Amino acid sequence: KKDIIILGIESSCDDTSAAILKNETVLSNEIAGQKVHEAYGGVVPELASRAHQQNILPVVDTAIKNAKIKLKDIDAIAFTRGPGLLGSLIVGTSFAKSMALGLDIPMVEVNHMHGHVLAHFIDDQQKEKPQFPFICLTVSGGHTQIVLVKDYLDMEVIGTTKDDAAGEAFDKSAKLMGLPYPGGPLIDKYAQDGNPNAYQFTTPKMPDFDYSFSGLKTNFLQFLQRETKKDVDFIKNNLNDICASLQHTIINILFDKLIKAVELHNINQVAIAGGVSANAGLRNRLEEEGEKRNWKTFIPKFEYCTDNAAMIAIAGRYQFLQGNFAQQDISPNARLKF
Ligand code: KG4
Ligand code: ZN
Repeated sequence: KKDIIILGIESSCDDTSAAILKNETVLSNEIAGQKVHEAYGGVVPELASRAHQQNILPVVDTAIKNAKIKLKDIDAIAFTRGPGLLGSLIVGTSFAKSMALGLDIPMVEVNHMHGHVLAHFIDDQQKEKPQFPFICLTVSGGHTQIVLVKDYLDMEVIGTTKDDAAGEAFDKSAKLMGLPYPGGPLIDKYAQDGNPNAYQFTTPKMPDFDYSFSGLKTNFLQFLQRETKKDVDFIKNNLNDICASLQHTIINILFDKLIKAVELHNINQVAIAGGVSANAGLRNRLEEEGEKRNWKTFIPKFEYCTDNAAMIAIAGRYQFLQGNFAQQDISPNARLKF
């Protein structure tokens, strides 16, 4: 059987990415981040779409060059149709449509959240890939989901957040401490030298497998206000302990529901995905729980945790194999359902 080469394009938020996938192997995965949002404490949608517009051609061009393939080798183009920022999605979708038209090759649409989950099937990671069914905790800047993955394109969200996503809990708390956007990786860094039991924060009471992070944010704000009234340098002097304790609380909240979901579904394979799965504390916790509970655990390679086009290309590969092609009249959908 012939090799299948897919060009993946991702532009749902603030990273412009293009990847070339040959079967399940990544030949290239280029990512252009956007520094312009740092000063604003979050992604500014209008600036994001303008930056995508500037980045997309060079990023796609570099991905093709670095993969050492020719344009005519590409069998299909996979693009993120949603969910995400509409202005950002329009850039990737329009680019994919024009290129598919120009090359006269098919396109496949990808749900960004499927991409995060299916990143586990990219070669060159853990030796074994998950077997169906497995449970995936998908934690990113926009989503927090416990997903029951029954097949490549058959997934069910069994738990989700009712307000902030886990990544937002990290980023908004970081902002309250005066750290730049995105604060998640910084909290991770400081937490490594801190005491996770130094401070206690509230944990939500939510039904079933659902999450809520807005209460923690309020609690954290009040905590900082109370302590800085007593000592103006409280944050600076205790940054490591504050970060470690906050991160510990977020991870506890995530695992409380994850463990319940895994036990109820009687599944012993558990994966994590999405930007927050790059967090060292979360990765360690999954391994610890896995040993304790006899789970097989799956942690994506670092570069496939945060937004990237390799995950879009692999998800697109399974659409392609099913013959699920997108037509030229397709438009992006910011609130694309799972
Ligand atoms: O998946 P992603 O790149 O984009 C979305 O689809 O949202 O996730 C970005 C999120 C941000 O909130 C960022 O702060 C968080 O992932 N993140 C982390 C870490 N690396 C990225 N959060 C905690 N620890 C990290 N090491
Ligand atoms: Zn994402």
